[in-house]
Amino acid sequence: MSKKIGFIGAGNMAGAIIKGLIANQFFSPEDISASVSRPESLSRLESIGIFGTLSSEEVIKRSDVVVIAVKPHILRAILPALKPHFSQEHLIISIAAGVTIDELKGLTGQDRIVRTMPNTAALVGASMTSLCSNLSRDSEDCRLAESVFNSVGRTEWIEERQIHAATAVHGSSPAYVYLFIEAMADAAVLGGIPRAQAYKMAAQTLYGASKLMLETELHPGVLKDQVTSPGGTTIEALAVLEAKGFRSAVIEAMRACIDKSEALSKQ
Ligand SMILES: NC(=O)c1ccc[n+]([C@@H]2O[C@H](COP(=O)([O-])OP(=O)(O)OC[C@H]3O[C@@H](n4cnc5c(N)ncnc54)[C@H](OP(=O)(O)O)[C@@H]3O)[C@@H](O)[C@H]2O)c1
Repeated sequence: MSKKIGFIGAGNMAGAIIKGLIANQFFSPEDISASVSRPESLSRLESIGIFGTLSSEEVIKRSDVVVIAVKPHILRAILPALKPHFSQEHLIISIAAGVTIDELKGLTGQDRIVRTMPNTAALVGASMTSLCSNLSRDSEDCRLAESVFNSVGRTEWIEERQIHAATAVHGSSPAYVYLFIEAMADAAVLGGIPRAQAYKMAAQTLYGASKLMLETELHPGVLKDQVTSPGGTTIEALAVLEAKGFRSAVIEAMRACIDKSEALSKQ
């Protein structure tokens, strides 16, 4: 990659992305820079071999692609002073939750914007990241942004108005999955399995089931049917889940999540 990429903010999310870019050799460390707010954070950047600074202006100056990776309230506080340092040469990528493409255009004065929403699994290279942009998806900018996030997992393009549903299905949803794992582990403990083993068994099962579905591209109903023998144990469990409204509980929970995301974006 002949371009240079810079991160304004290099905490959990940006740190995971930077590691993914280096591991996949998509950018070499010398083409990556990042700004942080505390001097003690600089050694973390030095240890992964990238240029670290307390000056976001310096990052903008050194980069073709600028990833804004600070918390949304910090973004709104710092971008007005940074705005004069951006130029039409810059592609702006934001990972900040709740900051729209229009707002990013206003704050940076730039037209080439990709808004993204990764999730915490970026830390282990397994993020689901939604991307939206005011640019054509076939453009070099969009393909570059997609590659950046493919280095820490999978990506899907969405319309910006779909970001609330994306929040429900892959932003907030790790929390519902952990709740499910806890419930499965509790039941396993009830059945006599030690708790530590129960967590591993439940988590590995969700991981394996997801991996199988993604790799085979089979419909979840087909995979469910494959493990549901007539008169067997699995159908007993499924019948109880249906009777207790498992599917509708998930749908209603996610609808509440979507509604909240929409309400927050209007504040
Ligand atoms: N974590 C998630 O699951 C997740 C998921 C999707 C989207 N996001 C979005 O990702 C963004 C970053 O989240 P995070 O979890 O990575 O946060 P984080 O770990 O708290 O990192 C924030 C980074 O911003 C730096 N920073 C703070 N003020 C700054 C300033 N004035 N100038 C330059 N850098 C500054 C911090 O510097 P120090 O290192 O010196 O403290 C730190 O490196 C947020 O906008 C969030 O909405 C997060």
